Amino acid sequence: MEMQKRTPRGQRLVLVPTPYQGHINPMLQLGTFLHSKGFSITIVHTHFNSPSPSNHPEFTFIPIQDGLTVPLVSSGNIIAILLALNANCKASFEQCLTTQVMKQEPGKKITCIIYDEFMYFSEAAANYLNIPSIILRTTSAANFHARSTVVELHSKGHIPFPDSMSSEPVPQLHPLRFKDLPISPWDTLENFLKLVVKSHDVGRSSAIICNTIDCLDQSSLARIQKHCQVPIFCIGPLHKITTAASSSLLEEDTSCIEWLDKQSHKSVIYVSLGSIASIGEKELAEMAWGLANSKQPFLWVIRPGSITGSDWIELLPQEFREAIGERGFIVKWAPQREVLAHGAVGGFWTHCGWNSTLESISEGVPMICKPCFSDQKVHARYVSKVWRLGLELEDEFERGKIERAVRKLMVNSDGEEIRARAKDMKERIQVSMSKGGSNYKRKSELVEFIMALQA
Ligand code: UDX
Repeated sequence: MEMQKRTPRGQRLVLVPTPYQGHINPMLQLGTFLHSKGFSITIVHTHFNSPSPSNHPEFTFIPIQDGLTVPLVSSGNIIAILLALNANCKASFEQCLTTQVMKQEPGKKITCIIYDEFMYFSEAAANYLNIPSIILRTTSAANFHARSTVVELHSKGHIPFPDSMSSEPVPQLHPLRFKDLPISPWDTLENFLKLVVKSHDVGRSSAIICNTIDCLDQSSLARIQKHCQVPIFCIGPLHKITTAASSSLLEEDTSCIEWLDKQSHKSVIYVSLGSIASIGEKELAEMAWGLANSKQPFLWVIRPGSITGSDWIELLPQEFREAIGERGFIVKWAPQREVLAHGAVGGFWTHCGWNSTLESISEGVPMICKPCFSDQKVHARYVSKVWRLGLELEDEFERGKIERAVRKLMVNSDGEEIRARAKDMKERIQVSMSKGGSNYKRKSELVEFIMALQA
């Protein structure tokens, strides 16, 4: 007799994303994967930066009160916003869960709550209702390890560090220097540490899911695993484990794909600084002239409001616009995964947010790293010095340096090794994700693990 394979049909999972683009994307990608395995998915989200339900008709979306004030949101102080969310959302989430539990039909119980590590109020609410929980960490193991080291160094009195130490290597954290440590630029050090300590506390959660892959992050993962009491499932890159619909908060301008279709193979440098970072007028001008002088075609995402003092691209010099003609294409927001997978794209100038970094690596696109804050500095260092899949632009924005970096990455012979390594890493990731590979196995183990939580 043939064995009946157990499926999670009817089992329900509640997912709680942190309301920022770089966190919403991996959580909804994870939801799409788990839905494809037979789980039903409910997304509990804040009103602030709420995801669009119309992109995901297969999920149920439930908003909760987040209590954020207009001045706090407009301050852009992400640490203060996350601390406020944790203080404000616990009661509304508990209430939401209680209502859901009361309404649930037999056989359709909530099996588990999967929450972003920064939405740690979810763990307390899950405990209150006796529902198992799992943490999603959307960042790299390298950054997680560096963040833990910041807490440790602070407890020993080494943080904050004097300026004279900023270029010194951090003991045990090669190749990071003190200035690369992922310390937030917003709020006080105390509040940053409070958030980190709380988000690193596993509490009574049953497991951790990481959006990373062992062929990339192995050494940092091994260090984390040594101190972790619960299983860690590394199933990234999450955007690759399933074909998830877009979860962009801004409208994607797909006209750039038609423009890319007209460009030669691997000729275009794609430029984007993600969903949060911003730059000033001087940096904008240096970027613009560096790109123009490189003579490479470029696709540049300039988010509305990301240039200090202007709504969009009003501050771009007129001579620049005339100089580039058809060679440059500027959009407010791009379908980034599609862009990076396009054959015309041969390089990515990135701020090294973890999603952008993973999306680039998994398409074999080498990078110019220009980190702005926090984890981006760690990733820029790893991309350029450990994985050697790109170049880092250090210090001030300067057009000559930018021009040379673009040419090295895209065309010059001294960039050949970087381009070859990027191609090789793409293939290694593909092997890990295909049947029999380590990522493939971890995904199946995760599904089994979650199903067993209800037993
Ligand atoms: C934030 C932090 O800034 C980052 O350091 C951290 O690692 C994650 O959270 P963000 O700056 O937005 O994220 O960067 P990133 O992690 O790269 O996420 C941006 C996401 O938006 C990516 O998934 C990318 O594909 C998407 N994107 C970006 C678009 O879809 N279109 C764009 O035009 C630009």
